[in-house]
Amino acid sequence: MNMFGTELTLPNGVTLKNRIVKSAMSEALADAQNNPTQALINLFGQWSAGGAGVLITGNTPIDRMHLEHAGNFVLDPQSDSEKVSALVEAGQSGGAKILAQLAHAGRQTPEAINPHPTSVSEVQLALPGYGAPDAATDEDFAEVIAKFVRSAKIAQDVGFDGVEIHAAHGYLLSSALSPRINTRTDRWGGSLENRARLTVEVVRAVRAAVAPDFIVAVKLNSSDFQKGGFDHADSVLVAVMLEAEGVDFIEISGGNFEEPTAYQHASKTGSTQIREAYFLDYAAAIKDALSIPLMVTGGFRSASVMDAAIEGGKTDLIGMGRPFITDPGFVRKLLSGEIDKAPAIEQAFPPADKLPRGAVLNWFCTQLAIAGATGQPDLSMPVVEGHDRYLAQIQRATEIHLDNRAS
Ligand SMILES: Cc1cc2nc3c(=O)[nH]c(=O)nc-3n(C[C@H](O)[C@H](O)[C@H](O)COP(=O)(O)O)c2cc1C
Repeated sequence: MNMFGTELTLPNGVTLKNRIVKSAMSEALADAQNNPTQALINLFGQWSAGGAGVLITGNTPIDRMHLEHAGNFVLDPQSDSEKVSALVEAGQSGGAKILAQLAHAGRQTPEAINPHPTSVSEVQLALPGYGAPDAATDEDFAEVIAKFVRSAKIAQDVGFDGVEIHAAHGYLLSSALSPRINTRTDRWGGSLENRARLTVEVVRAVRAAVAPDFIVAVKLNSSDFQKGGFDHADSVLVAVMLEAEGVDFIEISGGNFEEPTAYQHASKTGSTQIREAYFLDYAAAIKDALSIPLMVTGGFRSASVMDAAIEGGKTDLIGMGRPFITDPGFVRKLLSGEIDKAPAIEQAFPPADKLPRGAVLNWFCTQLAIAGATGQPDLSMPVVEGHDRYLAQIQRATEIHLDNRAS
């Protein structure tokens, strides 16, 4: 049997049936009230039947004023617990554990949703469509921590197996870690300990509020890959701080909206392992510093690379995103040996610099919507068409969100 087909018991005693995890993918498949639609529930049913050990939801906001974009389901007191429970049941129907990825978008909240989002500082995102953020006060940080706890408790009440706190990709917690964005001189800024305070306090408060067998994970950048940003040495030290707070595993990714390193797709150089699992070498140093399990996400496709990564002690869990959209049933085929490589349709796409910004990501988002509605993606769709359709979908979702908020 492949190493990735073996069980893994987490520090809190929960056993995962295998090492393959569907990483978070922002689905934009919520209804006007930010509750899961049947299309989203269908996707989670397909993914669970597909054989993965764990499914992590897409970016699930803890606060309606700080969405990553309109259209994701939110976990707050307005959530419809029946619809969210239906999502959870679908996710668990094939034996997977399901985690909600809890997030506060911070300065990466689109301007249309909030022209002045709460961030760690007034340093604005260097991209069009994002407003001038307000630097959080102590009270704002206390509110953010309380909202993470509130959402985690709701997640537990509706039956999720756990939560993943999103501290990667430039959202609020990730931006607080970055000396480039976090320019504060109070106890939330400056030293690494201060920059990590928000993430550590969120994790501590969530861990204290939920049952011991409720999984608490964190997604962390191995680096922001930006000059003066959160770097690899910082990342190792923060991972150690998180282990001390009782997290069950840490997922390693990288980059942010300005530096979208997490979604590489067309690298032609290096060994298969370097081309595929682009954060694995960064993760190895983190793994060496930890005794809790590590999950690495980004580019894994070949069974041999996944096995070597686990056998070589570089990771315990293999996170994948895009293959779940191309073929929701691929994990079972990989486990049975029917295929030796997860679908990698994106490797045939033109390089990112030949496409509109975000095009590959947006194409996959369109495929999520099509697969949710019809049961299968439309893989023949040209990249730019998928991109344009997604932009139109988000525009509509934003209008619906704003109308709904006004009424
Ligand atoms: C459509 C799409 C949406 C994504 N949304 C999220 C998200 O909500 N939260 C997150 O942490 N990562 C998100 N990601 C990143 C994935 O979790 C993963 O890190 C990335 O796709 C690299 O893995 P892969 O090469 O296996 O696709 C998204 C990726 C895709 C393709």
